[in-house]
Amino acid sequence: MAAISIQGLSKTFPGGYRALDDVCFDVGSGEMIALIGASGSGKSTLIRHIAGLVQADRSELCCVAIGGEPMQQDGRLTPRAKALRRHIGVIFQQFNLVSRLSVMTNVLVGMLGSIPAWRGTLGLFTRQEKLLAMQALARVGIEGKARARAGTLSGGQQQRAAIARALIQGARVLLADEPIASLDPSSARRVMETLASLNREDGMTVIVSLHQVEYARMYCPRTIALKAGEVVFDGASTDLTAARLREIYGDASEELILPGLTDAAPAPAGARAGAGAPAGQAAAAALAVPMRPARHTLEVAAGRT
Ligand SMILES: Nc1ncnc2c1ncn2[C@@H]1O[C@H](COP(=O)(O)OP(=O)(O)O)[C@@H](O)[C@H]1O
Ligand SMILES: [Mg+2]
Repeated sequence: MAAISIQGLSKTFPGGYRALDDVCFDVGSGEMIALIGASGSGKSTLIRHIAGLVQADRSELCCVAIGGEPMQQDGRLTPRAKALRRHIGVIFQQFNLVSRLSVMTNVLVGMLGSIPAWRGTLGLFTRQEKLLAMQALARVGIEGKARARAGTLSGGQQQRAAIARALIQGARVLLADEPIASLDPSSARRVMETLASLNREDGMTVIVSLHQVEYARMYCPRTIALKAGEVVFDGASTDLTAARLREIYGDASEELILPGLTDAAPAPAGARAGAGAPAGQAAAAALAVPMRPARHTLEVAAGRT
């Protein structure tokens, strides 16, 4: 059974702008999928629909199902939506942590949906719950930061804390909306490796929207590409070469490719996540190459003037 099934999903915003246009695809349990597309192509809107945060256009054909259960149908959230949302962790580019609270408390917030409201309000968490939070932090490699205030962590560490918060929530599906867009290349790799490891070792289903196709090719066996709200590619990430991107997006494809990288660059994503290949490690080595040289040069130049 599909972990996520999307049929006939369209979204028109007030004013008439059609941000999603008849999107259809299924995601198998345990898949790791990249969602790519230029700014404004509809990635965030799609993620918000899968998470059950917004309702699609009214249409009898429209259905978003999680694990076979409809989350929204005919443009309306179903009565099961609230319960289904608990299985879905959402991670955002801006981390969405409370910076003055400890990392541990931020992670425990992930439990608020499953404990009595009064305990959550008073911040009364049991020993067992704190232990689970520590385990989640250990899983993403930052258990040493449990007591630190979230605001003192690096961007990459904050993003990993946000992933730990999704883990403790009991999520089986992770939706990450441009989780590495504000990170430096090495933090970006750590976050992508964390997601890949959760997918590979814990069987988590992952959809991650990305701005650069190289990360998709390195970490995600399958890519879905959006253009103006339509799915324009759905297949093996390795088939999404620079030439293919240019064919699909024209000049706008440059936005999706790290400068200095050609089709000849090494980048095989594993045949399938879960096949046991350490895609993350291979990716780490391969990704040492494209470090946005143009942008770094510009930043240095700007700093000197
Ligand atoms: N709440 C909204 N109201 C009106 N238009 C919106 C709203 N949210 C997104 N859009 C529009 O929908 C399109 C897709 O946006 P978005 O999903 O954020 O794209 P992406 O995440 O790929 O950059 C954009 O043109 C954006 O301006
Ligand atoms: Mg977006």
